[in-house]
Amino acid sequence: MSNIIARTANNVWDWVNARAPGMMPVYRKHMSEYYAPKNFNIWYYFGSLALLVLVNQIVTGIFLTMHFKPSAAEAFSSVEYIMRDVEWGWLIRYMHSTGASLFFVVVYLHMFRGLMYGSYQKPRELVWILGMLIYLVLMAEAFMGYVLPWGQMSFWGAKVIISLFGAIPVIGNGLVEWIMGDYLPGDATLNRFFALHVIALPLVLLLLVVLHLGALHEVGSNNPDGVDIKKGPKGNRWDPNKPADGIPFHPYYTVKDLFGVGFFLIIAAFIIFFAPAFGGWFLEHDNFVEANRLVTPEHIKPVWYYTPYYAMLRVVPDKLGGVIVMFAAIAILFLVPWLDRAKVKSYRYRGILSWIMLLAFALSFLWLGKIGAGPGTDIVETYIGRGLTFFYFAFFITMPVWTKLDRTKPVPERVTMHD
Ligand code: HEM
Repeated sequence: MSNIIARTANNVWDWVNARAPGMMPVYRKHMSEYYAPKNFNIWYYFGSLALLVLVNQIVTGIFLTMHFKPSAAEAFSSVEYIMRDVEWGWLIRYMHSTGASLFFVVVYLHMFRGLMYGSYQKPRELVWILGMLIYLVLMAEAFMGYVLPWGQMSFWGAKVIISLFGAIPVIGNGLVEWIMGDYLPGDATLNRFFALHVIALPLVLLLLVVLHLGALHEVGSNNPDGVDIKKGPKGNRWDPNKPADGIPFHPYYTVKDLFGVGFFLIIAAFIIFFAPAFGGWFLEHDNFVEANRLVTPEHIKPVWYYTPYYAMLRVVPDKLGGVIVMFAAIAILFLVPWLDRAKVKSYRYRGILSWIMLLAFALSFLWLGKIGAGPGTDIVETYIGRGLTFFYFAFFITMPVWTKLDRTKPVPERVTMHD
């Protein structure tokens, strides 16, 4: 039986190859003959997991679109209908809403890995920039998605965030009206957000992901040692001209990544089945109440993945100042490849100073996230938030100094396998 399957698969393969010979080299270049460093660790699961979640969002999104009504009058009840009456609708919706949060969990860990191993350094600056563009589009995509169910937080979140553009001198108010298509978020806003959320931004995201991987495969993957395997000895058991420390992505890393997928799916299933709203962190309680322009929720706050930036916005006393600080906080991440002056890539071979800075940065980002998720009325917390915002920027602005000052350890000639 397995013989027949193998033979049929080979025949189909040959048939396609005879008609589209250009496809085979693409597969080889990116899969079976893409030689990735053999020392990838747990941090290298998150790229493939991000791909998995992207596919999940697209597939579940398509099924949600079949039943969702993008109008202010019907959106909320159509989501209720999906949850109660559509066969498996509750599962599809929770896979999508939990998927959005898990997307950010995975992407934040993926970015942190990049910072830790200096994966943005030459020659991977473009990989980082494309990653940052993905991050930006992902934030816009998630924001618009959250508006669609037309709950209280959809409406008020949209109002607060779109109104931020009102702080821009001269054109601000006009711009807000133009984005909303109304004086408050309404039917026009919902319609355009729907169009952008289901088609425009996913297309951009897919394109960026293809470019991201294309750029990475041009130069090759970095690894936890930050050693360039292309500069090391040549010749492995598959190809005498390829790096000795490289192994073919397929089947070695496809199989390894499948293990990561299994582990991830178990956690995802637990959340989806037992705590889909995750105590109000993934779906806020207020969003189970239909949008009402006459009733403001007690605390308007965005979903957890925006809260570090939201905290920065709130702790700056001036509205325009807050908006600038918030956007600058994201923009500065684009510059990391040029701010880091360390001679070694991976933090494994950097000194204590770099470690302290990186950990302090991660902690302050998390702490800002906690502050941004709170009511924002505590004065002490506001001052702490200001201090953390100051540190956030200081981390980047002084990066050329501390990365250069810090002592480094000798980097091995070849990748190491300890972990
Ligand atoms: C939809 C979101 C994303 C997807 C699907 C994605 C996918 C991937 C994949 C499959 C890899 C190769 C495997 C790996 O190294 O883990 C990769 C590598 C990389 N990604 Fe992403 N990525 C995404 C977002 C981002 C973001 C937001 C950043 C940073 C701003 C980023 C920066 C990088 C870097 C620097 C590498 C090279 C890592 C290395 O070689 O050490 N990615 N990405």
